[in-house]
Amino acid sequence: MLLCIANVLTTEELDRLTSQLASAAFQDGKATAGWHARLVKHNQQLDSADPIASETKEIVMAALQRNQLFQMAVRPKQIRPPLFSRYEPGMSYGNHVDNALMGTPLMRSDISMTLFLSRVDDYAGGELILETPQGEEAIKLEAGSMVVYPSSTLHRVDPVIKGVRLVAVTWIQSLVRDAYDREILFDLDTARQAIFNQQGKTPEFDLISKAHANLLRKWAEL
Ligand code: NI
Repeated sequence: MLLCIANVLTTEELDRLTSQLASAAFQDGKATAGWHARLVKHNQQLDSADPIASETKEIVMAALQRNQLFQMAVRPKQIRPPLFSRYEPGMSYGNHVDNALMGTPLMRSDISMTLFLSRVDDYAGGELILETPQGEEAIKLEAGSMVVYPSSTLHRVDPVIKGVRLVAVTWIQSLVRDAYDREILFDLDTARQAIFNQQGKTPEFDLISKAHANLLRKWAEL
């Protein structure tokens, strides 16, 4: 499931992140790409040894932890520390699929996340292009909004034409490995919350809650 979530960061968090990143040291992004992705990766990445990186990562992690929609859709078991990427004019990231396994200890990437940090008017180009069964989908969101999509997706970042594209990216191992299973849980969760908000704790709410809990019990890998 491809899901865009608005206002993941508060205005204060976004201001703090962008002002800190403005003075940070960025290095060639090839350092954190797999061998084939390295061939097409032309961007810059915040040096994770930079003292600024620990605070910027914390801001993003806290925002993910408290976002209810993200939690419902993704069911995170483990989240990689976010990376901060910067694209100047002419920079791009060609078609690739993200590594299936990453980090130490190893985790599986089920879901990829891009959190947009630049204002849409501040740069041209730089769309995230996802290859879906319905064709290519171009994603460019307001600053502070994010997209989550299956890590199995072939994707790219089109060249930035002017301005700077700044994003945070990370990967999530889900408690529910299968994307279709996650979507069923997400739909049931969304439906039962709507019923609760409209009618309270009805017998129908209880039944959907039971089905949701039992499917989660069946599918969750701890
Ligand atoms: Ni990627």
